[in-house]
Parts: sequence; structure tokens; C-alpha cells
Amino acid sequence: MTALSLTVNGTVRTVDVSPWKRLLDVLREDLALTGTKEGCGEGECGACTVLLDGAPVCACLVIVGQAADRAVTTVEGLADGPILHAVQRELVVRGGAQCGICTPGIAVCAAAVVDRGVIHGDDARAQVRQLLAGNICRCTGYQLIVDAVCAAAASVAKDGAA
Ligand code: FES
Ligand code: FES
Repeated sequence: MTALSLTVNGTVRTVDVSPWKRLLDVLREDLALTGTKEGCGEGECGACTVLLDGAPVCACLVIVGQAADRAVTTVEGLADGPILHAVQRELVVRGGAQCGICTPGIAVCAAAVVDRGVIHGDDARAQVRQLLAGNICRCTGYQLIVDAVCAAAASVAKDGAA
């Protein structure tokens, strides 16, 4: 066991765990942040997506030692208090919030993409599909998710903030 500190959703948290423990398990088991889900456990589905220093990663492929002294954002950290991130708001409004396994990872990845301001132009839908290609839904489809992320991107571009 090793005492490790990481900043999770803006708060410094210290855990006493093996540095080899998966970040996914530390978040869920040691920090009770169960919004991050496990799908495949092999880096294929994106259900476990969190942001590490602002970049989307699969928490099932990151050991907590790699996250020490770095910033982790989970789906619980996307909203600003009661104010949802634009991606969360649009997923809800447009019916893009699907099952509880895929949706958290999609929301986290989409929020990072929208915040970077890289979605624009006539091929926004194709850009969103490409940028979210690592987030798999096994059952429902992607149309409403793409609708929501495009709307969130347009809203952030217009208002200047998520
Ligand atoms: Fe991590 Fe599927 S659970 S990518
Ligand atoms: Fe979540 Fe298909 S895997 S709706």
C-alpha cells in the first residue's frame, strides 16, 4: 500500500492503495465515485472514460500510480453545482442519455471535446462521430447522442462557456 494524492473533481484526495490498482477501481471502490462504469475492462468500449489532466483516458487502462499528483475529472465533476455542463443538458433534453453504462463515458468525452471548441462547420456531425468513436453503445444507436453533442458545441460556441 502507498499513500497517493490525486485531485479528483477539483478536490485533493489521498488514497492508501497499491499504485498498481486500476484508476477505475480506486474511483469506484476507494472514492465512492460510481458514476464511472466498467464495460469491457479492456480499453475497447469507453464506458470508463475520465479526464486525466483534461484529456480523455480509459480508467480501466490507467493504474492509479500514473494519476498521482494529477487532475482527474469524472462524470460527477462535469456539472458546476446544480448547473449541468452543456453536454449533460443537451443529452437530457434531446434524449441522448441512454443507459447508465455508456452514458457517463460519452458525457465525459463529449464534454472534453466541446470544451476544446473543435466541433464546428458543416461537417460537425461527422466530427462528433469521429471524436466519440471510442465510446461504444452496444444497443441503441448514436443519432440522439450526436444531436446532443452538436447542440452543446453550438451552444458553447454561442455563449462562450459550457
Ligand atoms: Fe474501460 Fe471498456 S471499461 S474501455
Ligand atoms: Fe448504453 Fe447502448 S450501451 S444505451
